[in-house]
Amino acid sequence: MTIQPNSLEARDKAYHLHSYTNARALERDGALVIDRGEGIYVYDNAGKQYIEGMAGLWSVGVGFGESRLVEAATKQMAKLPYYHTFTARTHSPSVELAEKLIQMAPVPMSKAYFTNSGSEANDTAMKIVWYRSNALGKPDKKKIISRIKGYHGVTIASASLTGLPNNHRSFDLPLARVLHTTCPHYRVFKTEGETEAQFVERCARDLEDLILKEGPDTVGAFIGEPLMGAGGVIVPPAGYWEAIQKVLKKYDVLFIADEVICGFGRTGNMFGTTTFELQPDMITLSKQISSSYQPISALLINENVYQPLADESAKIGTFGHGVTAAGHPVAAAVALENIAIIEERDLVGNVRSLSPKFLKRLQAIAENPLVIESRGVGLIGAFELAPREGFDAGQLGPKLFPILMEEGVISRAIGDSLAFCPPMIITEAQVDDMFDKVERGLEKFARQLAA
Ligand SMILES: Cc1ncc(COP(=O)(O)O)c(C=O)c1O
Repeated sequence: MTIQPNSLEARDKAYHLHSYTNARALERDGALVIDRGEGIYVYDNAGKQYIEGMAGLWSVGVGFGESRLVEAATKQMAKLPYYHTFTARTHSPSVELAEKLIQMAPVPMSKAYFTNSGSEANDTAMKIVWYRSNALGKPDKKKIISRIKGYHGVTIASASLTGLPNNHRSFDLPLARVLHTTCPHYRVFKTEGETEAQFVERCARDLEDLILKEGPDTVGAFIGEPLMGAGGVIVPPAGYWEAIQKVLKKYDVLFIADEVICGFGRTGNMFGTTTFELQPDMITLSKQISSSYQPISALLINENVYQPLADESAKIGTFGHGVTAAGHPVAAAVALENIAIIEERDLVGNVRSLSPKFLKRLQAIAENPLVIESRGVGLIGAFELAPREGFDAGQLGPKLFPILMEEGVISRAIGDSLAFCPPMIITEAQVDDMFDKVERGLEKFARQLAA
């Protein structure tokens, strides 16, 4: 594509540093300009239509162009465009959202704390683990265990929790006190001859061994996504969470469920915690909380976490934490309306009823000789390209991705896996249309590879 001088693309290249982008490649190729969205579709500035098969960043649950969210934002903007929640101030949208989240929480929770991104919510969770351990007179109980391929964000703390090399490399991360245990991807991490049940046992044993090696009195919490998203849509094997939670209970290790992707319907229940039968002490939420129409995230904490925190804040005189836009009234009002839409339109029911079709189409793709595996739950899934002579691991996915774009489907290449997480408003016909396009893209790819 030739980039015209003074075009949006040219100005973007001149002035804009992009996340998760090779800056030199961007200087050469420029960025794709997305101009508008409607339903499950977005359109670029040349008018080409794409099925947003990733709902943006796993997040636009109610789809694009939802006028009720625009109205909720406009109304709140006119009434009270901003106020903070520091120093015992509050406003109606943050109260209502906190109440709603505590009422709908999948396990008993005590308080909601607001931040603006998933990263900040997880950062806050980590700080609260430390604060609480000090409050309880256990100053050494601070280490946090995460998992290889887990994704928890990019701030210094949350990037440390993330278990992916590109989030650590050249950033001098992870921080001390953050440890990573085995990833529950059976096909990739099993040992020779190991059954799935044996693999699950080993995952739990690896966690227990790590806790014992570090000393149970030094391990404060474990964090995990119910289903791993950005690490490649990795669905844990049956029995995995039961075995892991047994170990956490045994050593008095808090459990933080990162529901930033799974929350608000994605897995076919309102929360992944329900789908995978989790008993977390803290839950982090973002993305589909507002369908990303506004930046907002929340951390839910139970009484076991709240009580020592409250004591410590009384001792010190304040809970010395908070960001300016936390619980922003416009973002909170949009989140409330978004949750109302998810409930009124029974989008969780839509996920559940379309899931068999979605997973069947993914499973059919796994029969393609180019593909080694497909996996998914609810309306989130991926297929993985088989290793191929002449290509390093991780090279094939980024080659297929632009072919799918040409076909009009936005997916996400995670190494050699292509991920799909469409808006939850998608219809059965649209699921078929998306996978018909993906299959055409795969045929094109096969022809290219054979040429
Ligand atoms: C499970 C999970 N946790 C945390 C985050 C970080 O959220 P944010 O990008 O809003 O900081 C993400 C982002 O993709 C995520 O998928």
